[in-house]
Amino acid sequence: MAEQFDAIELIRRKRDGGALSGDEIRWLIARYTDGFVGDEQMAAMTMAIFLNGMQRDEILNLTNAMIASGERLDFSSLSKPTTDKHSTGGVGDKITLPLMPLVASFGAAVPQLSGRGLGHTGGTLDKLESIPGWRAELSNDELLRQLEEVGGVVCAAGAELAPADKKLYALRDITGTVEAIPLIASSIMSKKIAEGTGALVLDVKFGSGAFMRERERARELAETMVQLGTDAGVNVSALLTDMNTPLGRTIGNANEVRESIEVLAGGGPADVVELTVALAQEMLELAGIRDVDVAAHLRGGQAMDVWRKFVVAQGGDPDAAMPTSRESHEVRAERDGVVTRQDAYQFGLAAWRLGAGRARKQDPVVHAAGIDLAVKPGDTVRRGDLLWTLHADDASHFNRALDALDGAWELGDAAPEPAPLIVDRIR
Ligand code: URA
Repeated sequence: MAEQFDAIELIRRKRDGGALSGDEIRWLIARYTDGFVGDEQMAAMTMAIFLNGMQRDEILNLTNAMIASGERLDFSSLSKPTTDKHSTGGVGDKITLPLMPLVASFGAAVPQLSGRGLGHTGGTLDKLESIPGWRAELSNDELLRQLEEVGGVVCAAGAELAPADKKLYALRDITGTVEAIPLIASSIMSKKIAEGTGALVLDVKFGSGAFMRERERARELAETMVQLGTDAGVNVSALLTDMNTPLGRTIGNANEVRESIEVLAGGGPADVVELTVALAQEMLELAGIRDVDVAAHLRGGQAMDVWRKFVVAQGGDPDAAMPTSRESHEVRAERDGVVTRQDAYQFGLAAWRLGAGRARKQDPVVHAAGIDLAVKPGDTVRRGDLLWTLHADDASHFNRALDALDGAWELGDAAPEPAPLIVDRIR
């Protein structure tokens, strides 16, 4: 049977700034997923999209075509409303860990289908795998049962969820076409819509440690994703948040779990608590759970109960000792002053070089590797005070991590103007 469309003709049209119809996009994605359209043709197409953009209806058609490439989960049998969060990724971003149990402790179901880290940003599954015994793979039946019984799940997205995106994302990753708004928005939203959540809050980050460095581009991405979710019948909103400085005082895996447990115990760094509470409030509101005091609830310890049940349900031991690194290296202040800047990208890169992240998908991460920050912007130090501690299993990694930190921070004489963490909310 003759093919319905010709890939070369579609590539040429996109290259020349034209638009693709719904039928053309559905054909392209279906035939790319089954291998008829080759990677070299799709690489040309993604570059044409990167350079020329896509219209709103093209982005919607692309998202729907990627959803249709795989299965859709169905949470309609649950007795609770489902509500989820997606972060576009950052440095020290462990928010899912305290957030999921906090929201679940109010009676909502939180289905967090998460990924692993690549490059300088961390992955939630890598962090949780620091907990001895904890496993990321769950069947759909286990996922549903845990949502009903515990209220929250963090697990790997199955191979059947938007398989077109998995293939396309791997291709974009090696062809310099990740940072295109139509491609990022359709990639993220196809997975979230296929996942079947009723409500979704997007944490869209801007700044040096984020995908989108410029705030206005991050806003455009947030607006595009909110529109896609709304069109698909999901209750969706987005917070635009600053990722110029690492979140919290830990960057890595095991140390980020430790810090999250401090937050669940009512302590932890102010920025992690602020973002956790704001996102929880948003997730609950979209799920129809209103007039609740989220901050007081976090201090009250109910979220910690959910956390412990969640870890046990996925095979982990919530009381087990977390891995510690074989080697550590302290960096101390060479003069008195105030920390005025701590660059998220460079600190993320340093943690990655210490072994906390991976260069290729198949590489393992070193769970105990990373950075503990003794100080954050605005903190005063005296000469000789500890600034941060680097952790690795191999001391030879310290020099390259220290190179990454060269110029990544400043000590000044006056405290910097505090920058708001959450700059806008988009609905
Ligand atoms: N995360 C995704 O899932 N897809 C993208 O394209 C970018 C970030």
